[in-house]
Amino acid sequence: MSLKKGPGSRPMELGECTRNPGYQDVEGGGSAAETINADPGEKHDSAAPKLDPDAAEEYTQIKPYAGMPKEVLLQYSSQARYRVPREILFWLTVACTLVLVALTITVIALSPRCLQWWQASPVYQVYPRSFKDSNGDGVGDLKGIQEQLDHFLYLKVKSVWISPFYLSPMKDFGYDVEDFRAIDPLFGTMRDFEELLAEMHNKGLKLIMDFIPNHTSDRHRWFNLSRTRDPHYKDYYVWTDCNATAPRPNNWVSVFGNSSWTYDDVRGQCYLHQFLKEQPDLNFRNPNVYKEMTDIIHFWLEKGVDGFRMDAVKHMLEATHLRDEPQVDPSKPAESVKTEFDLHHDYTYTQLGLHDLLRGWRAVLDVYSREPGKYRFMVMESYDYQEVEKTMMYYGTPLVRESDFPFNFYLLYLPQNTSGLWVKDLVHLWMANMPKGKWPNWVVGNHDKPRIASSAGQTYIRVINMLLLTLPGTPTTYYGEEIGMENINVTDSQIQDPAGKYNASASRDPGRSPMQWSGDMNAGFNIKTNSTWLPVHPDYTSVNVEVQKKDEGSVLAQYRFLNTLRQSELPLHRGWFCYVHADASVFSYLRELDGLDRAFLMVLNFGKESATTDLSSIRELPDQLKVLMSTNQINNGKVLQKSRVLTEAGEGLVIRYSTHTRFNPNHPEQCYVSEKACYLSAMDILYKC
Ligand code: GLC
Repeated sequence: MSLKKGPGSRPMELGECTRNPGYQDVEGGGSAAETINADPGEKHDSAAPKLDPDAAEEYTQIKPYAGMPKEVLLQYSSQARYRVPREILFWLTVACTLVLVALTITVIALSPRCLQWWQASPVYQVYPRSFKDSNGDGVGDLKGIQEQLDHFLYLKVKSVWISPFYLSPMKDFGYDVEDFRAIDPLFGTMRDFEELLAEMHNKGLKLIMDFIPNHTSDRHRWFNLSRTRDPHYKDYYVWTDCNATAPRPNNWVSVFGNSSWTYDDVRGQCYLHQFLKEQPDLNFRNPNVYKEMTDIIHFWLEKGVDGFRMDAVKHMLEATHLRDEPQVDPSKPAESVKTEFDLHHDYTYTQLGLHDLLRGWRAVLDVYSREPGKYRFMVMESYDYQEVEKTMMYYGTPLVRESDFPFNFYLLYLPQNTSGLWVKDLVHLWMANMPKGKWPNWVVGNHDKPRIASSAGQTYIRVINMLLLTLPGTPTTYYGEEIGMENINVTDSQIQDPAGKYNASASRDPGRSPMQWSGDMNAGFNIKTNSTWLPVHPDYTSVNVEVQKKDEGSVLAQYRFLNTLRQSELPLHRGWFCYVHADASVFSYLRELDGLDRAFLMVLNFGKESATTDLSSIRELPDQLKVLMSTNQINNGKVLQKSRVLTEAGEGLVIRYSTHTRFNPNHPEQCYVSEKACYLSAMDILYKC
């Protein structure tokens, strides 16, 4: 490549010199601006350089090059042949950037939110005393849980709620906390906890802890300081004057039965306990108590826990006037009012101010949720029985968030009347009352209730699991439900549960027996010694994880299949949920997603007999329905006419079908979705619609 300086000059190689041949120093020190306009060869008065417009012509054939002085370059750059392409490039860049920004904003605005971990996976409840005993003392422990983490991976479960393992005298098996910052030695050490949490996180699992704000153990340091009237702690609990010999300042009763007041000799007053007398109620009217409990939340969040199950929240505040609560049956003699169900709890449950306390804690969790990928979850425990609207308050308001969901305990009533219509009613109770846009959840068992396989009957365990895993929202699985564990028989002398000691029929022991891992000694729960804190169910040789893993048709295999399907199929985890049919036997619903031609129909028989369901009036369904999965394995793959869908009692069918006609637009009153999303098959993406 050569550069020419005007006619007749010799071609010059670029590397030959770093100077423009048309450029000359003016007395060795002239500025480039002067030089570019100077007549070459002529000397200029450096004090008054003249800019000669004709001289520029001389340089038009010289191209700019590296090392050329800035001013000369500027001169070139204002020439049209450089300026125009530059401007075109500039505006192209601006336009592209704007288009990209607009596209990004559109994609963000149109993308539905990703499901959070607590939405994508069932919540699995571990009762630590009963899950796995690693040291042979007959009681489960943290190391035992750690040994079994692969079980969650096998089930495709990500969220694990572990019932309390705080330091505790174990009057209520850990729900009576002596120190909220310590681990009970029965369960292990703080180091064991940290290792467990780290290992869970390594495996992609989330740990939800129990948080018990309503009460402490009577062995808690605060209670000892309160009963001795320490100035700071004297109002940490709810105290009132009472008669030492007949200590009943009012008619309030404990959930476990009898008066909720106990006289304390040390202080000479009565204290309130809505559960055991060893579980004094904290006084949340005292801001210091709230602060203490908030600090404890910080403590565990700092350790990295992923969420809390908030225990017995409706009990947190009581009316300060301490008036008697109205009796359900006013004609009943006052002295026979002894159980929770004898009173309307106008002054002890769900008092004004409760939600402000809980929303304050939500705000704390939200701060920690800002860490990338670290959403902190909160679920409430509140049994509100007929008052479902009280339960829904725990979702918060459109402006103030509270829990991600309150536990939905209404399916616990399922065994009262196993029928398609009944199950639909229970499901609808939640769907009809849940605030718009919120996320549902389903519970059929926990450590306070009889096992569903016993109360509903073993016949229904598979169809119940199918219901939970195909409804919209988060299912909860109490340990052992995935293999169909049943209640154990506990003789009076074997009763461990304080509630059972008060009233044997209220004992919660039957549903707390050791997890059945294998056919080995103690069902594999404790393989070191022959000791278990509650008896192992005698069916453990056939009902256990090891055996069921080998059987494709087992309760466990079906649970795993359905959970995998739920997580892999968009209609099942974020599609519409529409009621299709309900009668004395069958409850049927479908799940579909706009834009996706794959949909799912569930036909679940909760009745006592086989049923033939005629779905021919549902024109959105194809005439022939192919069974993807039946709880009755031999029916897998069968093709049914939609006018004759046959199911046995306790049988559930998942039918996958193709359709271009959606059910939801034609039946909006039968359909529900948390957050509308549509599928764009051309790009394989979801968008808000
Ligand atoms: C919750 C727990 C229950 C406990 C009670 C008192 O309801 O689930 O097990 O006994 O609170 O803490």
